[in-house]
Amino acid sequence: MNEEKLKYLLKQMTLDEKITQFIQLVPQFYEGSKYKGDKTGPMTDLGINKEIVQNSGSVIGASGAKEIINIQETHLKNNRLGIPLLFMADIVHGFKTIFPVPLAIGCSWDLDLAEKSAQVAALEASVSGIHVTFAPMVDLVRDPRFGRVMESTGEDPYLNSQLAKAFVRGFQGPDLENTPYRVATCVKHFAAYGAPEGGRDYNTVDMSERQLREYYLPAYKAALDEGAQMIMTSFNTVNGIPSTGNRKLLRGILRDEWNFDGVVISDWGSVKELIPHGVATNELEAAYKAIVAGVDIEMMTAAYVKHLSWLVGMEAVDEALIDEAVLRILRLKSKLGLFENPYRGADEAVSKKIIMSKQHREISRELATKSIVLLQNKYHLLPLQKEQKIAVIGPFAKSHDILGPWSWLGSKEEAIPLYDGLLEKVGAHSLLYAEGCEIEVGTNEQQNAALKIAEEVDVIVLALGESSEMSGEAASRADIHLPQVQLDLIKKLKKANKPMIVVLFNGRPLDLHSVSCEVDAILEAWFPGTEGGAAIADLMFGDKNPSAKLSISFPYSVGQIPVYYNHFHTGRPKNAPNAEEKYVSKYLDIPNEPLFSFGFGLSYTTFLYRNAKLSDRMMTVETPITISVDLTNDGDVKGAEIVQLYIQDVVGEVVRPLKELKGFKKVMLNPGETKTVSFIITEEQLRYHHSDLQYKSDPGAFVAYIGTNSYDVQALPFQLIK
Ligand code: BGC
Repeated sequence: MNEEKLKYLLKQMTLDEKITQFIQLVPQFYEGSKYKGDKTGPMTDLGINKEIVQNSGSVIGASGAKEIINIQETHLKNNRLGIPLLFMADIVHGFKTIFPVPLAIGCSWDLDLAEKSAQVAALEASVSGIHVTFAPMVDLVRDPRFGRVMESTGEDPYLNSQLAKAFVRGFQGPDLENTPYRVATCVKHFAAYGAPEGGRDYNTVDMSERQLREYYLPAYKAALDEGAQMIMTSFNTVNGIPSTGNRKLLRGILRDEWNFDGVVISDWGSVKELIPHGVATNELEAAYKAIVAGVDIEMMTAAYVKHLSWLVGMEAVDEALIDEAVLRILRLKSKLGLFENPYRGADEAVSKKIIMSKQHREISRELATKSIVLLQNKYHLLPLQKEQKIAVIGPFAKSHDILGPWSWLGSKEEAIPLYDGLLEKVGAHSLLYAEGCEIEVGTNEQQNAALKIAEEVDVIVLALGESSEMSGEAASRADIHLPQVQLDLIKKLKKANKPMIVVLFNGRPLDLHSVSCEVDAILEAWFPGTEGGAAIADLMFGDKNPSAKLSISFPYSVGQIPVYYNHFHTGRPKNAPNAEEKYVSKYLDIPNEPLFSFGFGLSYTTFLYRNAKLSDRMMTVETPITISVDLTNDGDVKGAEIVQLYIQDVVGEVVRPLKELKGFKKVMLNPGETKTVSFIITEEQLRYHHSDLQYKSDPGAFVAYIGTNSYDVQALPFQLIK
């Protein structure tokens, strides 16, 4: 439908019909949903009636072609103007074929594969009737206590932005309008949801505007620039004002500065939450604040449908504001072709054929092998040898709970546990198994049984971690150690005096300090998705070589949090890690540095960085320079290295971080092979937000760092001449 027709449609709508486009409800409210029985109960709870449901604009959380077609069909029969519903859902890291959690995908630094995973998710979702996904989540997170860190791609604005774009490309494709096998994206949670005080979900966010713009906003902007059609507000306040009622954020930055003309949706219930936040007295005031701030759709509250009409009647809200918002929603429906085909890609028969196809599972496996980070590997214990006898111990050895907290449509039964993956490689005769303990509880008998088999083998593989309920939404933890019972199990198994490899399944960086002292090797598998066990086995037996690098720092202790690589110098920096200095910025009891830093990850081979050089020591706005390094695979297996480029602005108008990621390249090398890896450095990369919030570069001294992680780098100084 063209713009003219959409405007004509808008003209035909009554004020109430317009306003009901704003409400988003779960399928339980609709005739035709698979939830039979009482529909009036939920309506009464929300204070709405059947007519409102009939005129509503969108549905959250329906899935399955059959159900969605049914709901749409019934809806269109009852809707006066035949305006189709939009079906939205959280397709975060896979629909039924589940990929590693986004934090793990972040560690792959693999933009092509990240894009491919989103494309597969979009395909499976769209044939199941879904039009919009509430993804990507691009919140920058520096605090691993925050349960939703698993849903983010980490701590760096540049890497997050690149991944945000890759996800948008994958979900939406180059031609959202004409391909039914893609879904529109809704980037979230605007803004700075990943920075709650104390890491506690939904908590206050308060930071300088400079900090917000410099680190937290870029990934949302990147997703929108890539064409994301929607944006979701966050639950938190930003500098005292909840995002859902934050005019500066939603109209000032989003609409006026960034020219975003897509749809803004609240998070679940967040319009009404303006009341407990303490910025609205009642629903009426909440509705007023949210619409004026710029929220178009309210998810699972009825403040708009109950009060906007009155507010317009009283001339407190201009009807033009309502019209604009409705038009944005209608435009999205039109972009998705719903006026022509309200069912879009929904096709039960096709969905049965393609969902969880072999090809999709293979992509998930490949991405998992590229997301799993080798954190420690003493004495080259990994890869394992096929002749070795192995004890597989721990609550995750046979667990299917490896999909992660956001995989609501994934089926755990179809996920490959670690034990099954290992079994594929070596057969039962080489594998002994004991549970050792459960995730948070255990008995002496369990420990003793584990110790007994540990004594009979060459090597112990200990599968530990957090259950999927221990991270994700509303799952912040103050103590980010492994549960005590698992730490006790490690101690117990030490008695066997055998080499020990820990494989971790978890959604956040953990405090691994004691674990790293006690065991020989650590493989961070995260929640690796449907093919998890197979992918881990590929890595453990060396059929694949680990290449992932952390996209977030692992603290040495929870007391360091937030700890991140792109921090400032203080006026009293600590100069040498072990120097005896008193009046410097340090802890008395722990180092300043994280245990495992951003960008860190081991391989089964070693890479040499030689001949790092700049094409020139001076650059200008018009003449960029090139940094290059010769990278050699110095080991005897093939491997991929993620070469990282960081830049430091030595003297700024405001204090500048020690270094900031500005580029990365993943390079595959055969043993003995050398490739020259280069990056162009442009003036644009040297810009930052000044104290007056102007975004520009300063002439003067810079340092380019090139290397294998954020600490192990070679430094090359240069000047920007202006
Ligand atoms: C979450 C969002 C999600 C929404 C809908 C909320 O609780 O914060 O990320 O998209 O629910 O499921």
